[in-house]
Amino acid sequence: MDDRISVLISEDEVDARIRELGELISEDYAGKELHLISVLKGGVFFTCELAKRISIPVTLDFMSVSSYGNEKSSSGVVKIVKDLDESIEGKDVLVVEDIVDSGRTLSYLMSMLKDRGPASLALCTLLDKPSRRTHPVDVDYTCFEVPDKFIVGYGLDYAQKYRNLPYIGVIGE
Ligand code: IMP
Ligand code: MG
Repeated sequence: MDDRISVLISEDEVDARIRELGELISEDYAGKELHLISVLKGGVFFTCELAKRISIPVTLDFMSVSSYGNEKSSSGVVKIVKDLDESIEGKDVLVVEDIVDSGRTLSYLMSMLKDRGPASLALCTLLDKPSRRTHPVDVDYTCFEVPDKFIVGYGLDYAQKYRNLPYIGVIGE
């Protein structure tokens, strides 16, 4: 795979959509406080931009997870590499992720977080690749649906590179 990258969604388009989603989330949670859980590392760029567009009070925490075993395993078990700093009990929680692909990571993570007793729990993703889903996940907010291509930029990496691209790109085309 060479590292030629083409723009799939421009910086302006991403910014406009995040602004829209921030307004929608602010309306949906009006009168409440929202606790954002950013999934490291990919979710961080999106989380920061989204948080700036939310007009209700926001608190932030971070979690890092990695998949156990190989891609073909259907267990859906993920390892918590870094757990949350604070309890989510009784809070309105919104998990912020870069991409929902197979759904393996998020289906596990969401059920694990639900067991911790939040007042509400929802999921917001920058990108959704529904064609790849093997593990069902309820996605509450999506910026963009993307085709089954290898995406980089805006938090998404190829071998840890390109997370810092300000647009969403496709590699190797
Ligand atoms: P899952 O398959 O839904 O569990 O997604 C696991 C993780 O794979 C995501 O959180 C991303 O970090 C990564 N991933 C999935 N698709 C892509 C892609 O197209 N580019 C970069 N990373 C991806
Ligand atoms: Mg991720």
